Amino acid sequence: MSRPTPTAPTELSGCAEKLIRGRHATRAFRPDAVPADTMRAIFSLAGTAPSNSNAQPWQVEVVSGAARERLANALEAAHAEQRVSADLPYSEDMYAQVHRARRAAFGAELYGALGIGPDDHAARAAYDAESLRFYGAPHAAFLFVHGDGVARLTADVGAYMQTLLLAMTAYGVDSCPQGLLSFYADTVRGELGVTGGKLLVGISFGYADETAPVNRVTTERAALEATTIFHD
Ligand SMILES: Cc1cc2nc3c(=O)[nH]c(=O)nc-3n(C[C@H](O)[C@H](O)[C@H](O)COP(=O)(O)O)c2cc1C
Repeated sequence: MSRPTPTAPTELSGCAEKLIRGRHATRAFRPDAVPADTMRAIFSLAGTAPSNSNAQPWQVEVVSGAARERLANALEAAHAEQRVSADLPYSEDMYAQVHRARRAAFGAELYGALGIGPDDHAARAAYDAESLRFYGAPHAAFLFVHGDGVARLTADVGAYMQTLLLAMTAYGVDSCPQGLLSFYADTVRGELGVTGGKLLVGISFGYADETAPVNRVTTERAALEATTIFHD
């Protein structure tokens, strides 16, 4: 029997609005660990993400406790010694003017909340370097893309990332995806004994420090019409 075509939002729409709009990047965490069973529930749920032909071309490495501490130290050292190694190409030039403007507006918002002025490049760099310690989060997950034809496969891992972030939100766990962590791919691989794949992103997660002003930063989105066209 086929399902009736819904003419109004389903009962899930309210949950989806709350869940999707309730996720925000968190940049200051309490040290409290996420319980192991919650962790398993979150990562199992994230694994239901869609992917082209259901290939699931992601490899996920999660660090906690002593492994997290060792990796944070190694990242700090790699940064100090300028041992940058990004698996996936990055250039400021990849952004169109409209996207640069949005990035600049976000940067002004974030660093403004931290009391860092627009031209204080040293303070911005110091804050970014400090973020390599996962903003104080007790856990970090590293998402690797496996296989060739990386642009399409990376899209699959992007879908996994968002599914993971929403699963965390649903379980009351706060997160921050950190592209910056992917600039130290060799360090992450070396510390964790990972042999294959390309590092897309690291995700710091745990429980937000609600007292930190940086966690009150809000981000705007472009108007629907600016990104989406409905064709009849
Ligand atoms: C792939 C990716 C990489 C990101 N890299 C960083 C990062 O290196 N450092 C950081 O503080 N936030 C990073 N973010 C968080 C974004 O700044 C944030 O998602 C965006 O400003 C929208 O804010 P919101 O997540 O609170 O809605 C990243 C987000 C994504 C999806």
